[in-house]
Amino acid sequence: MIDAARKAARGLARDFGEVTELQVSKKGAGDFVTNADLKAEQTLFEILSKARPGYSFLGEERGMVEGTDKTHTWIVDPLDGTTNFMHAIPHFAVNIALQREGEVVAGVTYNPITHDLFWVEKGKGAFLGAEKRLRVAARKHLDESVLATGVPFVGKPGHGQFLKELHQVSQKVAGVRRFGAASLDLAWVAAGRFDAYWERNLKPWDVAAGVLMVQESGGKVSTIEEHGDPVQGASILASNPELHPQVLKALHAAG
Ligand code: IPD
Ligand code: CA
Ligand code: CA
Repeated sequence: MIDAARKAARGLARDFGEVTELQVSKKGAGDFVTNADLKAEQTLFEILSKARPGYSFLGEERGMVEGTDKTHTWIVDPLDGTTNFMHAIPHFAVNIALQREGEVVAGVTYNPITHDLFWVEKGKGAFLGAEKRLRVAARKHLDESVLATGVPFVGKPGHGQFLKELHQVSQKVAGVRRFGAASLDLAWVAAGRFDAYWERNLKPWDVAAGVLMVQESGGKVSTIEEHGDPVQGASILASNPELHPQVLKALHAAG
């Protein structure tokens, strides 16, 4: 997974350097697919399929490709943070998770520009690079906490709900950030950089790796409704176990 992420990232880093030259096609409002994106997914598909023939592959761009092995699925976002990429903002990632019998067991989130490599294996922990073990932040009080979120953009649902949630949360916390790559938002919660992160209307390829990273770093992840699987992405809240109920309370106050 790391080899695949690095190889795809090399191509993305090259294309990032020429971002203004890229040919761009629109895939729905506000959601761009670039040549770089498609090339990166192709690279990941080829390397992962060769390494584990038969595994299924769920990619943002190509959808589900069923393999002969129904128990294993790669879940891949070749470029998470497309809008940043398009605007030459160096905050985006290659995101890969491996699901075994419906459960995420490993993940890699790699920023091709900073070379931050976050990776996780179920039961073994989450790491940054070769040896830095990730731990969620220990802050217990909202008024000293920095939260990340995602702001819905053109074509996305939930603008009114988001404003209500922001209104509730921002009165209680030290800061709210919108950095633009869900995979890195979660990795940064795992690394203790953000104290919590919430967002709605995401997809499994945005969050599958990061959910496991936060859990393996001592954090708690749930949906905002507290039922259903946060890996599906419909809504997600990740933080340390002390802050989790406090952020939930603020979000629920938004109605
Ligand atoms: C997006 C990013 C962003 C989140 C969006 C996602 P993309 O993924 O993760 O942070 O707010 O909802 O769709 O489109 O850049 O792969
Ligand atoms: Ca994404
Ligand atoms: Ca993407």
